[in-house]
Order: sequence, then C-alpha cells, then structure tokens
Amino acid sequence: MKNSILGIVVLSMTLVGCTEKPAPTVKSVAGDAGAGKIIAERDCKACHGLNGKGVAPAIPNLAAQRERYLLTSLKEYKEGKRPHAALKDMAANMSEADMRNVAAYFATLPPIANAAATDVKHSSPYEQGKVLAAACAKCHGEDGNSKTPGTPSLAGQQPHYLAAAIQEYHQGDRAKGAMTSSLRDTDKLELESLALYFAAQTPIQRAAPTRGDATAGEPASAMCGGCHGSHGVSTDAATPSLAGQDAQYLVKSIKAYRTTRKNWGMQRYVAGLSDQDIDNITAFYVAQQPKAADTVPTSTKELAEKCNRCHDADANSTMSVPKMRGQDKDYLVMALRSYRDGKRQSSTMHNMSTIYSNAIIDSIASLYSSEPAR
Ligand code: HEC
Ligand code: HEC
Ligand code: HEC
Ligand code: HEC
Repeated sequence: MKNSILGIVVLSMTLVGCTEKPAPTVKSVAGDAGAGKIIAERDCKACHGLNGKGVAPAIPNLAAQRERYLLTSLKEYKEGKRPHAALKDMAANMSEADMRNVAAYFATLPPIANAAATDVKHSSPYEQGKVLAAACAKCHGEDGNSKTPGTPSLAGQQPHYLAAAIQEYHQGDRAKGAMTSSLRDTDKLELESLALYFAAQTPIQRAAPTRGDATAGEPASAMCGGCHGSHGVSTDAATPSLAGQDAQYLVKSIKAYRTTRKNWGMQRYVAGLSDQDIDNITAFYVAQQPKAADTVPTSTKELAEKCNRCHDADANSTMSVPKMRGQDKDYLVMALRSYRDGKRQSSTMHNMSTIYSNAIIDSIASLYSSEPAR
C-alpha cells in the first residue's frame, strides 16, 4: 500500500516534470558544478580525489552525495559544529557561493563503483557472539539460561551491563574463580558481541528459593525499583535486570557489595539491609517475570531498516541527510562514534546512537560500506 502511494507520487512528479520542461540529462543542482570543479581541483583533490573517492581510509567519498547534505556539512565545519580542524579552516575561507559550487560538483559525479565491497567483511555481532558463547554454555546454558544454582543467567540481561560485567572479570575487578580463565584472551569487540548475543535471548525464570519471603520482600524492594526497574526488569542499559535471576547468585552478589564489589550506589543501598531483608528481597525478585532488554535490535539488517527511513529520503525531502551506501567503512565508524560520544553535533543522530556499542557500530558500518553506492 505504502509502495503504491509512493509510486503514484513519483509518477505524478515525473509527469509534471515532463509537461514543464524536457527531462534533465544531468541531475539538477543549485550550484555551478563547473565553477565547483576548479575549487575541487585546487583544494579537495588531494584527499577526496577529483572523482570524489576518498584517497585513504577514514576520508569520506563525496561523489553522488546529496548536494544539500554536502552544503550543510561544509557549513557545519565553518560554524564549528563539526570539530575536524583542517576542514574547519578550509571552510572558514570559503564563500557561500564556493560552497554551493563545490557541493554541486561532487553531487553531480557518478557514484564510486564499489571496489571495497569485495574486501569488506560483513561482521554480525550476533553471529560472532553466538560462536563465542559456546565457551560459556557449560555453566551459563547455550542460550544464557543457566540451570546451575549460584551461576547467573545471562539471557535478556542489559547489554551494556553485561559487557561491563564481563570486563570486570576479565580485568580482575570482580572476584575471579572460573570466569577469568575463560575470558582472558577475549578482546573488547568480542566482549560486546557476547553481551549482545546474550541480551537478545529470551530469559527463563529460575527456581524459587527455599529461603526468604517474597511478600515481605516486595515493600523492601521499593528503594531498588528506581534503578532496577519495576518488578526488576531494568530499562537502563547499565543497570542489570534482577527479575527471575538465580537466588543464590543474587544473595551472594548483594552481599558482595558489602565487601568486594565496588559501586557507590549499590554499596549505599545494601549497607542497611539485614541478611533476612536480603533473603526476602531476593525471593521477591526471583518470583518476578523476567523480560529481555528491549533496546537490542535482533539483527543488523533490521537495524538498517530503521536507518533507511531517513537515509533513503527521496530527492524532494527537506531533510539534510547523507547517503551511506558504499561509503568508506572507517569513516562511518568514526562518524557514528562521534555522534554517540557527543563529539559531533546532531541531536537526531545522537539520540539514535547512544545505545550502540562499538560492536553494533562496526557491524552497521560494514553493512553500509559493502553495499553498492548509488
Ligand atoms: C587534508 C585532507 C582533506 C582535504 C584537502 C579536504 N578534505 Fe574534506 N574531509 C577530509 C576528512 C578527513 C573528512 C572527515 C572529517 C570528519 O570526520 O568530519 C572530510 C569530510 C568532508 C565532508 C563531510 C562529508 C560527510 O560525508 O559528512 C565534506 C562535505 C568535505 N570533506 C568536503 C571537502 C571539500 C569541498 C574540500 C575542498 C574544498 C575538502 N573536503 C578538502 C579530508 C579532507
Ligand atoms: C565454569 C563455569 C563458568 C564458565 C565456563 C563461564 N562462567 Fe560466567 N559465571 C560463572 C559463575 C559461577 C558466575 C558468578 C560469579 C560470581 O559470583 O561473581 C558467573 C558470572 C558471570 C557474569 C556476571 C553476571 C552478572 O549478572 O553480573 C557474566 C557477565 C558472565 N559470567 C559471563 C560469562 C561469559 C561471557 C562466559 C563465556 C565466555 C562465561 N561467563 C563462562 C561461571 C562460569
Ligand atoms: C542508584 C541506583 C541503584 C539502586 C537504588 C539499587 N541498585 Fe542494584 N545495581 C545498580 C547498578 C548500577 C548495578 C551494577 C553495578 C556493578 O556493575 O557492579 C547494580 C547491581 C546490582 C546487583 C548485581 C546484579 C548482578 O547481576 O550481578 C544486585 C543483585 C542488585 N544491584 C540489587 C539491588 C537491590 C536489592 C537494591 C535495593 C536494596 C538495589 N540493587 C538498589 C544500581 C542500583
Ligand atoms: C530520523 C532520521 C535519521 C535516522 C533514523 C538515522 N539518521 Fe543518520 N543522519 C541523519 C541526519 C539528519 C544526518 C546528518 C547530521 C549531520 O549533519 O551531522 C545523519 C548522519 C549520519 C551519518 C554521518 C554520515 C556522513 O556522511 O557524515 C551516519 C554515519 C549515520 N547518520 C548513520 C545512521 C545509522 C547507522 C542509522 C541507523 C541506526 C541512522 N543514521 C539513522 C538522520 C537520521
């Protein structure tokens, strides 16, 4: 339905175009591409090529990029909204007309035939995480649902928390045991992939404890809910869900904040709890229905569909949005991290990317850079 409406709109626009003037042979642009070429030859070629292909990794391709976006980004450099020093200086010396013209020049170039497509490896953190998770299955269960008392389930856990927790064992910040040896050689991207894989699994409620009174635990848990979510299902990426978790593990980890585990918030909240309180609160949380963290996209392709809603905007869109297909991978990674970390200003993109780990960013950048530019 949506497609057919879109089809009609496109068709009627084409018809309007035909009645007014002959179909343009080149993409119509606002600036003077000929004048822009002179600027490109003099000032841009060394890095962006006269054909608009970045000459080295992390230099973006400009060929066939939307004119409106090219102009916006030059203005952003000029106004200091984008921090790159060299571009900032260059843009500062360009007139509004220069910017229009050079934007027109690059926008009218044909897209770069995607030589990179063959050598870019499309990495999926979920697939990678699944493979790595085999090493954890013995204790945590294949899908992160452990059946061993004392061993926490990882299924559905908040991904940022999981990544941080894994890293704490890895660095020896959390009491070691079986954990360190299995993770010693894991790198950061692998840790995040593991966390994403487990976070995307459906959690199964653990067995009810023999100690503690869930009814008494409910009012006592009131002060925990502000952070751990109502009924122990956390909505904060850095705070673990407690619902349906293993009782023995919960008791042990609450007590660990009195001694070995360091976390200012937690240490403060558990300091006043008696052992009986801890048993009761634990009984309450174990009895709650666990739910997977909802911030985890289940595949990179699914995530890309969300991005495409803006990034595939048609030519008449008033949004200044860049094309990403066939763009240099390192550049995309860098741009996404800059938005996430607040180094590049765009409230839209910052909001989009705050939840993305490096693993997701790497994967989505691989996906786009390996698709043919158009
Ligand atoms: C010294 C190398 C260098 C030169 C010369 C250079 N650029 Fe760039 N350009 C870069 C790099 C690196 C970036 C990515 C910077 C960043 O992260 O914001 C970039 C980014 C851009 C962007 C943003 C693209 C996007 O997808 O967001 C535009 C537009 C651009 N350059 C236009 C130009 C123009 C026009 C010229 C000539 C007037 C020029 N550049 C000269 C290296 C260069
Ligand atoms: C030999 C058994 C064993 C293996 C193998 C194992 N774990 Fe664990 N894991 C445990 C136990 C036991 C705990 C609880 C330790 C504690 O009390 O702090 C734990 C705790 C964790 C936690 C903390 C969970 C939380 O809620 O804070 C994470 C994360 C974790 N393991 C991830 C992994 C990953 C990832 C792997 C595979 C690479 C793995 N573990 C392999 C036994 C194991
Ligand atoms: C101010 C926010 C806050 C409050 C209030 C809070 N917590 Fe936490 N809790 C956290 C954070 C953040 C972590 C993860 C800390 C870390 O990485 O060690 C955590 C960790 C935990 C863990 C470890 C879970 C695991 O999987 O290892 C347990 C158990 C826990 N909290 C129970 C409680 C209980 C019970 C209360 C109420 C008495 C409570 N928390 C109150 C923020 C809070
Ligand atoms: C609501 C619309 C919207 C959505 C959804 C969106 N973007 Fe964007 N994106 C923008 C806009 C607008 C810009 C330009 C911002 C600026 O000027 O810095 C942008 C810029 C970017 C850039 C910088 C590219 C360059 O050439 O510098 C990257 C990379 C990017 N987005 C990736 C993504 C990814 C990946 C997703 C999906 C997870 C996504 N975007 C979803 C609107 C959106």
